[in-house]
Amino acid sequence: MREQLLLYGVGVERPSPKTDTTSTFSDNLSMPIHRWFRFSAGFSAAWASEVMLREIANGRTKVFDPFAGSGTVLLEGERCGIESAGVEAHPFVARVARAKLHWRENPKAFRDYALAVLQYAKKHDGNCEGYSSLIGKCYPQDALSRLDSLKKAWSKIADGSANSELTWLALVSILRECSPVGTAQWQYVLPNKSKARAADPFKAFEAKVYLMSGDMAGRQREESGPAAMLHAGDARSCAPVPDKWADLVITSPPYTNNYDYADATRLEMSFLGEVEGWGDLQDAVRKYLVRSCTQHVAKLNGETFDILDQPLLAAIREEMVSVCKRLEAEREHHGGKKPYHTMIAAYFEDMARVWQSLRRVTAMGALVCFVVGDSAPYGVYVPVDKWLGELAVSAGFKSFAFEKTRDRNVKWKNRKHRVPLHEGRLWVQG
Ligand SMILES: C[S@@+](CC[C@H](N)C(=O)[O-])C[C@H]1O[C@@H](n2cnc3c(N)ncnc32)[C@H](O)[C@@H]1O
Repeated sequence: MREQLLLYGVGVERPSPKTDTTSTFSDNLSMPIHRWFRFSAGFSAAWASEVMLREIANGRTKVFDPFAGSGTVLLEGERCGIESAGVEAHPFVARVARAKLHWRENPKAFRDYALAVLQYAKKHDGNCEGYSSLIGKCYPQDALSRLDSLKKAWSKIADGSANSELTWLALVSILRECSPVGTAQWQYVLPNKSKARAADPFKAFEAKVYLMSGDMAGRQREESGPAAMLHAGDARSCAPVPDKWADLVITSPPYTNNYDYADATRLEMSFLGEVEGWGDLQDAVRKYLVRSCTQHVAKLNGETFDILDQPLLAAIREEMVSVCKRLEAEREHHGGKKPYHTMIAAYFEDMARVWQSLRRVTAMGALVCFVVGDSAPYGVYVPVDKWLGELAVSAGFKSFAFEKTRDRNVKWKNRKHRVPLHEGRLWVQG
């Protein structure tokens, strides 16, 4: 069966996987290891492994994910027996992925380590002082005191070892379920909303440790390929990855939907004391990431059309100038006056660099799949998949085709605009 293909480029028709859950993390919540941390920006592990198995059968041997996120492709690469490597620039998200990749450790040794942390925490009261106002709004004193005692017990023996990092993950992964306010993972914390039920930190931590050690034991009974490599790095350079290393790329970049990946982990990073408030996110996280939200470009407003002038963007310049001019004019009619025109220019500049580095790290004949969606800030349509495909070709890939998997913005009547959008897989070959 073939799904509808929207073909913009020179056709690379791919048989599409049976499932249609490419862009969502929800199925991963029932999958060992993937379920340790709910990263809502993640995509489907089942789909990623389907693509890998098919491409292994086609003779491919090395998969690369330049936006590795919580490690979905890397974990499935290990399961499928293909060499895998990834790059992730968000320090907190990269640490989550790296901790998950420690599933090969001894499950009992991890459990003993983490339960010793729990026992110590139970005997030593925590302290609610010194936390940011966000944390104060998210937790009642008794819950925060228990979380703090867990954190202090962990940090007393934290040494960067695999067991220490797995225990860190067990702790940060329960923070949202232990809060009685609106802490839905996608994306902002809503202190004025409440949840029906909040978990007790000690019980949630213990349950998480048993879930993780059980998953580790179960996974170790299965076969697996070489251990994946995760680099804390930037997809715009892919610096640690050797030339022509990969023959398969499976990834999902940030979308141009103004989603702020830095803010998405503010709760966890505030609890850890890595940021005090929203203002710290720029230096702690955002400056490392592809510029996909307006916060990224606050100081670049006057430079939009200089960005577009770069040779890097020549392939899509004419269309981009027209879209950016419309966005610049449209912003005058909106209270927020968001600099979407600058965000779009900066995003495609960054993605042009990503394609250039992907060309460097992929072998001739490589297959690349980007799970991506388009967008329409202020109702101005941005043909994201088409422009990404054209940038890929101008970076030296041979051809591209877009395979739509779902429509977006068709259900809701109260959206800010009624422009139909879609999401799907951009297949690039070359
Ligand atoms: C859509 S998510 C990918 C999620 C991943 N597929 C998963 O299943 O967990 C995009 C990721 O790109 C990361 N990112 C943003 N800018 C980056 C950059 N310049 N280099 C590497 N990673 C970056 C974000 O932090 C985020 O984790």
